[in-house]
Amino acid sequence: MNLDTTYLGLPLSSPLVASAGPLTRSVTGIRTLAAAGVGAVVLPSLFEEQIRREAERDASLAEAGSESFGEALSYIQLPVGDGQPRQYLSLIERARAAVAIPVIASLNGATSGGWAEYAASMQEAGASAIELNIYYLQGDPFDPGRDVEERYVEILRTVRAAVTIPIAVKLGPFLSSLGEMAARLHQAGADGLVIFNRFMQTDIDADTLTVSAGLPLSNPAEATLPRSWIARLRGKVPLSLAATTGVESAADVAAYLLAGADVVMTTSSLLRHGPEHAVELIDGLRDWMLRKGFESIDQVRGRLSTAAGADPAAYGRSSYLTTIAQATRVYAPS
Ligand SMILES: Cc1cc2nc3c(=O)[nH]c(=O)nc-3n(C[C@H](O)[C@H](O)[C@H](O)COP(=O)(O)O)c2cc1C
Repeated sequence: MNLDTTYLGLPLSSPLVASAGPLTRSVTGIRTLAAAGVGAVVLPSLFEEQIRREAERDASLAEAGSESFGEALSYIQLPVGDGQPRQYLSLIERARAAVAIPVIASLNGATSGGWAEYAASMQEAGASAIELNIYYLQGDPFDPGRDVEERYVEILRTVRAAVTIPIAVKLGPFLSSLGEMAARLHQAGADGLVIFNRFMQTDIDADTLTVSAGLPLSNPAEATLPRSWIARLRGKVPLSLAATTGVESAADVAAYLLAGADVVMTTSSLLRHGPEHAVELIDGLRDWMLRKGFESIDQVRGRLSTAAGADPAAYGRSSYLTTIAQATRVYAPS
């Protein structure tokens, strides 16, 4: 049974990848995940805000001069020694030394600017690839769609100019024409897409009359949107495709591979059940492949994508009316 796959041009021994999250924030966590059999890890993000803050602090210190060093530090209210971006680079270096699997660094921001050039330092520290998470939550509801798209392309261009390693763009689902966007991102230098960003869940508490923002763990029902987009894009754009959101069982991993994912990422299931859940997912995938007569991931990948001709009606509007009629019969039989 061959579980080999390729992602962003990197050969992986397993299609299961630990996505950016708390479990990859330490070398110990990364070692545990590698031992459990994941094909690669994505580190938690380094955020635009952290990079900007460090740059501001460095500039303040340089301006203040060495005599007023302490004064400058208290002025910008950061403890001496605080240097999250630098600690991030150290994590990349230590992780690369500790495990044989690819270590993907994650850069997370939403505005174009010099912060994105920090990718060069990540490459220098040994990152196997960059995952560029463009986490754009629309504060201005009237932003023109084309401007929003241009923002993605601009940030990617900055990162592309800074590094030679592969780049995957983690993007949200709220774009008018994802295929066109994928093609534009490819032109701007992306090697892959991570589908989709799962945005924080802003909500309203009617009891306390407050607005809240949380990050509850995902459930498998949330996988249908990213999965159907992967099935639409597979074979239509020359990009690696990573699935993220809603993996709980081996069947969820298999379904994403059938749609056309090169790798399937998970965070929620590993947080819910512990990092050793990766073993269960991989063993379960092997069992499923055995039952279905598949010998390699190559035989599975994209088998139910639109490019493979799998039930085109299910991916478009043409089955909409029959689906509504069926649902009506099930939920509201007369
Ligand atoms: C506690 C927590 C922290 C996360 N941190 C990051 C992060 O730093 N960068 C990032 O791109 N995604 C982050 N994510 C999102 C995950 O990488 C993933 O895309 C998302 O949770 C959906 O996948 P899942 O259904 O497997 O959890 C985080 C998710 C959780 C639950």
